[in-house]
Amino acid sequence: MAGRIPDQFIDELLARTDLTDVVASRISLKKTGQNYSALCPFHNEKSPSFSLNPNKQFYYCFGCGAGGNAISFVMEHDHLDFIEAIELLAKEAGMEVPRDQGAPDRYEQNAELLKRLSESAQFYQQQLTQHPDKKKATDYLSRDRGLSGQIAKIFGLGFAPPGWDNLLKHIGTRAESQEQLLHGGMLVEKKDQPGHYYDRFRDRIIFPIRDSRGRVIAFGGRAFGDEKPKYLNSPETPVFHKNQELYGLFEAKQNTPVLDQIIVVEGYMDVIVLAQHGITNAVATLGTSVNSQHIRKLFKLVSKVVLCFDGDKAGRAAAIRGLEAALPVMQDEKQIRFLFLPEGEDPDSLVRKEGKEAFNNRLADASSLSHALFEHARNQVTLGDEEGEAQFTRNAMGLIQQIPKELTFRSVLIRQLSEQSGIDSETLSNTNIKTRPNTSTNDTSYASSSSHTMDVSYEQGAPDYQHYDMAPSFDEYDDYQATGSQPEYKPTKNTSFKKPFKKGKFHNNEPELPPAPPSLSRLAKASLCLLLHPHIAKEIEIPDPIVNKAEGHLQLLCKIWRYFHKHPKHNVGHFLVDLTDPDMSNAVLKLLNHNDAPIQLKLPHPQQEVIDVIAKLEKNLGMESLKNGASDSINTEQEKQDWRNRIEQIRRKKS
Ligand code: UTP
Ligand code: MN
Repeated sequence: MAGRIPDQFIDELLARTDLTDVVASRISLKKTGQNYSALCPFHNEKSPSFSLNPNKQFYYCFGCGAGGNAISFVMEHDHLDFIEAIELLAKEAGMEVPRDQGAPDRYEQNAELLKRLSESAQFYQQQLTQHPDKKKATDYLSRDRGLSGQIAKIFGLGFAPPGWDNLLKHIGTRAESQEQLLHGGMLVEKKDQPGHYYDRFRDRIIFPIRDSRGRVIAFGGRAFGDEKPKYLNSPETPVFHKNQELYGLFEAKQNTPVLDQIIVVEGYMDVIVLAQHGITNAVATLGTSVNSQHIRKLFKLVSKVVLCFDGDKAGRAAAIRGLEAALPVMQDEKQIRFLFLPEGEDPDSLVRKEGKEAFNNRLADASSLSHALFEHARNQVTLGDEEGEAQFTRNAMGLIQQIPKELTFRSVLIRQLSEQSGIDSETLSNTNIKTRPNTSTNDTSYASSSSHTMDVSYEQGAPDYQHYDMAPSFDEYDDYQATGSQPEYKPTKNTSFKKPFKKGKFHNNEPELPPAPPSLSRLAKASLCLLLHPHIAKEIEIPDPIVNKAEGHLQLLCKIWRYFHKHPKHNVGHFLVDLTDPDMSNAVLKLLNHNDAPIQLKLPHPQQEVIDVIAKLEKNLGMESLKNGASDSINTEQEKQDWRNRIEQIRRKKS
């Protein structure tokens, strides 16, 4: 495989190439003042709107928006890919293109990895129909769980037979594919024999987890009996980030004639059994609570989301997380509702018992977001009388504040609260309640739920949450949910805050602007992604606290995002023209010329790349403010007194 072209070479090549020569050798240019103009070669026109700036070494067409530097011009004009364009320009400049001998890039690696995962899924499916012990699996599915062969097929269910090396022998036949299976989480390295592997999934029913395009990215494996863990899941891998994926989303899109509402449930089996009963629009989180990213993702597809919770304590705690996750991503015209199932039931058991129609009736009766919000605010009240009312008002306002300011929905809730509390809307709106920061983008993972077994593969030796940079202390959250009191945040003993989001310190290992690093950081990649796919900016939100804190590469990212958010029809050419800061222009050009540019250009989900980075930032930010803000967010005496005074005033007014 060809190595990468070193960045220094590209810099050198651009320095030695004059854009004016490159363009003039292909189209006829006319000098106009400092610049050149021409009839744009990229669209049909009668009067020239193509302009070239020889000092800045970039071109731009005011007619069609094409713009860039020598490399992009050659790419577009000569219909070449990035490497071909470099090779051609190098030839003209009399330079030879060197190649770093290195690993193939991540994108290619992922493509191979995805292939192995898809082969693994096929292998497990075959075992379900061919393995000598297949009866154990088919009996379990049909007799114990009541699944039809058809539904098993739709969800690609499979059987990982007992044994340590079934998959290894079939798919990991070459050293390279073993390596890929290892990266994909399918193999585990033997502790005492480095370089030797065994199958992660053994003697289990296999649920392939597909991304929303239908590619297999991970697996869940259910034990036949009471073995622990009940469900073993793939670890985090380059292609699987469990707190972003929703099990069954692809299948829901495929099998629901008109998809206008999605139900979020807790388990794999819930999704499948609902589908078998004709409720094909259910998806499940993967052992984590539903978070803001999930909801954002769903709101892009549908306008109604129902969060469905099992009728146990864990379900109620999860609902509160769901509420907190929903508030910051609410939109007018979108609807979130909450469905609580009866004690001891999950959607699987309930739909079997009651049937489709009864379950649909429950869905239709699900609580509104405002109901859930006021309920939660009420449940947290610990005091009686006026003080309790003040507490309620404060709790409710604390939640309402998390809804984006511009939403009508927010004003409606404030009005409702005003009616309930007797405090006028304006006073309420102007009250700034310090709240426990929204932790919804943190992975309040399965491991947090006390009534369930932790999703820990014993082979892994480490609990799930260690896959994340920063893990909140889950127990404290559960205490909080249960008692309604605000916990003091204590970092978990073994939690290291790797990248605190502090001014001046954030990503201090990011290179300074302008040079792009040899291998792009995730922030830089996200910037590049936005530059190459400007239309995605309008689908993305960067929360104010991040924008406000932005420095270095993050600042560039925010700037690019804001620009395209504001000008959704513009492209990178407009952006370059509008940029006034030469360092920024330089940084942008560097990014555009980066080796990774063609990869980013072809990304099937450029949006996801950016969203991932922002989610990570949000998560860091959440943790940071949690760390700093928890103690002072607790109602101080002063605050309490203020509220008492206010209530007292109202009472006097009323009487
Ligand atoms: P539940 O324990 O509620 O199981 O886990 P369930 O879905 O009802 O499963 P069945 O009906 O007993 O087969 C809900 C979800 O939590 C995750 C899985 O995603 C599961 O579907 N989970 C559960 C794990 O990841 N690991 C576990 O050990 C248990
Ligand atoms: Mn169940």
